[in-house]
Amino acid sequence: MRPIRVIVVSAYVTALTTPVPQGVSADDRASSAFAQIALACTGCHGTSGQGVGSIPAINNIPESTFIRTMQEFKSGQRAATVMDRIAQGYNDRDFLELARFFRDRR
Ligand code: HEC
Repeated sequence: MRPIRVIVVSAYVTALTTPVPQGVSADDRASSAFAQIALACTGCHGTSGQGVGSIPAINNIPESTFIRTMQEFKSGQRAATVMDRIAQGYNDRDFLELARFFRDRR
């Protein structure tokens, strides 16, 4: 296994196994879980979804637009180089949570 792969895998395992502290609300737990799912996006779109180079910004997009865009990627209606494949991994509920997560990022 090449070193870079070890780093990526161990970061992923850490993200999956980091315990959520006791005494937090269900909302906090949900947003913490989605903060971890959103890591799958921030590598390309930037830590706040602000966009990096030619990768478009995904913060600040209205919820309904974000969800519709993801659904169109998933169905193949919207032209894409990578997002069509990425969107396959998520359902409508995930799209809503991701939309909310990135909506308020700056
Ligand atoms: C491998 C890099 C990569 C990853 C990972 C990635 N994206 Fe993207 N994203 C892109 C690129 C490139 C585009 C432009 C469309 C295309 O070519 O696929 C894009 C476009 C988008 C758009 C449309 C933005 C606009 O205004 O047109 C949204 C929304 C989006 N991505 C959301 C996400 C979400 C949510 C995730 C995580 C689940 C994610 N992306 C993960 C590269 C990535």
